[in-house]
Amino acid sequence: MSKPQDNAAEGVANITIAGEGHDFPVMQGTVGPSVVDISKLYGQTGYFTYDPGFTSTASCQSKITYIDGDQGVLLYRGYPIDQLAEQSNFLEVAYLLLSGELPGRAEYDEFEHAITHHTMVHEQLHDFFSGFRRDAHPMAVMCGVVGALSAFYHDSTDINDPYQRLVASRRLIAKMPTIAAMAYKYSVGQPFVYPENELDYTSNFLKMCFAVPAAPYKVNPILSRAMDRIFILHADHEQNASTSTVRLASSSGANPFACIAAGIACLWGPAHGGANEAALNMLAEIGTADRIPEYVRKAKDKNDPFRLMGFGHRVYKNYDPRAKVMQQTCHEVLGELGIKDDPLLEVAMELEKIALSDEYFIEKKLYPNIDFYSGITLKAMGFPTTMFTALFALARTVGWVAQWNEMIEDPSQRIGRPRQLYTGHTHRDYVPLVKR
Ligand code: SDX
Repeated sequence: MSKPQDNAAEGVANITIAGEGHDFPVMQGTVGPSVVDISKLYGQTGYFTYDPGFTSTASCQSKITYIDGDQGVLLYRGYPIDQLAEQSNFLEVAYLLLSGELPGRAEYDEFEHAITHHTMVHEQLHDFFSGFRRDAHPMAVMCGVVGALSAFYHDSTDINDPYQRLVASRRLIAKMPTIAAMAYKYSVGQPFVYPENELDYTSNFLKMCFAVPAAPYKVNPILSRAMDRIFILHADHEQNASTSTVRLASSSGANPFACIAAGIACLWGPAHGGANEAALNMLAEIGTADRIPEYVRKAKDKNDPFRLMGFGHRVYKNYDPRAKVMQQTCHEVLGELGIKDDPLLEVAMELEKIALSDEYFIEKKLYPNIDFYSGITLKAMGFPTTMFTALFALARTVGWVAQWNEMIEDPSQRIGRPRQLYTGHTHRDYVPLVKR
């Protein structure tokens, strides 16, 4: 087991440009690829690097999450995701991601008490919802309402004050379930349900989603445990698109609520967090196993933009370790709910079998990712597909907040400002309309 360390110089990389050699330091982390520090490349050579999509670019140093895409490994502060999913709970994982260590009893109790007692939102925030159409996508509502938190919590927006960062972090983690549940209730025309402090974090969320004033509601502990495990799986994932968005927005000094709203907006895309909704819609469109070959053909056709949603990953070129836990959880939830022969699950399992034996997917190392089975599970639990990415955002808020704090505490961090390869017109003079 290697302890966290600041980067260790590992030597130099020599880059020859226009016949001239330039040395750049190579830095080594505790595990994973070393990096070439090219921060002085432009100053020394007048050249930029070019890496659209950042496939070969490390944007920062981090001690929070490690992914080995070839081995299918995911560690939160060094702890394997399958052990945390099996033995921990979401709030404890939140503490771990934020602080770097698992909490002792007193630390956990203080953290849980603080989160529990920040779950209510300002009463005036309720008015924000009535401005949306009932059929507004919950992610549109989440973007708006979370961004609006900046208008309510002025006492925790000074990012240079560690105490205000602590308060903002805990407010965001505590209030996301309440806001997500309110977005759901608003979409189905039911009254908002207030948090209940004697319930645990995830049971409280399920009750705020599914309780109605007309009848008592008892949280199913199996479903609550499954939901909590799903939150753990989604909590953080290194420098993915939405986390990088939060870091870039935060690098300008913007307040945490606005930055998390930016992360929510990025997560919404179907190539990212929106894939769970898209994957379920795809399975429903396929409908029956006999139609799978037609869709696999479309996914392989270079001229067809269709992709198998829930398959493939920028980093994982092996099975996404979260997908395995997600699949087990899916079977557990369907079993608890007495759902046998779910047609969507049948299509999903057949599709997975066909895809994993197809040369195209094998050659391109396309495996099911976390989004492939999550939709079936969430639908069985009673969530509409439009809520799937909102649930992802609820859980990923913990990772975004942890990465946000790490970035602000990093003395080397500066405003993020990439450059470009310019391919447009060079200087030309304006031509008045009468002469065009
Ligand atoms: C998440 O980054 C993260 O960590 C994200 C995430 C997190 O926790 O934050 O893990 C969450 O976003 C998971 C991914 C969810 N997205 C989907 O399931 C959407 C479907 N997947 C693809 O859009 C794609 O696989 C991406 C976006 C996930 C990854 O895209 P890359 O890394 O840019 O890979 P690529 O598009 O360059 O694909 C490589 C090749 C291409 O073929 P060639 O051009 O080399 O011939 O694989 C093909 C692609 O056409 N390909 C697919 C495919 N995914 C990639 N072909 C068919 N179906 C697919 N799903």
